[in-house]
Amino acid sequence: MEQNNIWEERMDTLSIFDFVVMENFLSIEVLSNLKVFFKKKEIQDKLEKAAIGAPGDAKIINEIRGDYTYWLDKARDQNELQLFAVLDEIKQMINRFCFLSLSDYEFHLALYPKGSFYKKHLDQFKGRNNRMISMIIYLNENWKTGDGGELKIYPEGKNEKVIEPLENRCILFRSDVLYHEVLPINKSRKSVTGWMLYQPSSLMTLTP
Ligand code: OGA
Ligand code: NI
Repeated sequence: MEQNNIWEERMDTLSIFDFVVMENFLSIEVLSNLKVFFKKKEIQDKLEKAAIGAPGDAKIINEIRGDYTYWLDKARDQNELQLFAVLDEIKQMINRFCFLSLSDYEFHLALYPKGSFYKKHLDQFKGRNNRMISMIIYLNENWKTGDGGELKIYPEGKNEKVIEPLENRCILFRSDVLYHEVLPINKSRKSVTGWMLYQPSSLMTLTP
């Protein structure tokens, strides 16, 4: 099947380079559904200052990260958000073509206000290493050079790479090895960001 070939190729790239970037990732329908959902959560004031560290060790440190997040909950948000079907499919494709045993995922909406950033880091926490693959879908219409907020990645033994947060661009990368940072942002920046997990985690404990 053609769809499988595309995913096989993407997963090969992920295995070889530790990351893969995909353009026009979501269908127009799923993308616009997601953007409506995001707007609604903004209006409802549901995005909260993000924390750092493993559950129980959550601290708000503005000098490290400045984004606001809303954790998605399948049980609660499924009726409103078509994205879950896509996430289920990706989990399946990673399992099939990367020979991983992902059992779950956790995702949040992320809003970086003007002037914010996220310093260089790895996505696996100390004492909690069940995040296998990081995934980000950007939602910035009309992003232009100078807007900032690029994702800078540091592949081991290779040149650093700067990825612009263009609308409907998606990146997958290995959570355990790929260092990355979000460069300072000159206007607000939106994404949906999450992790494919080896074992399920309790979402409740992640909320500060
Ligand atoms: C993160 C992160 C990168 C981005 O949330 O851990 O590194 O481009 N995000 O939003
Ligand atoms: Ni990160």
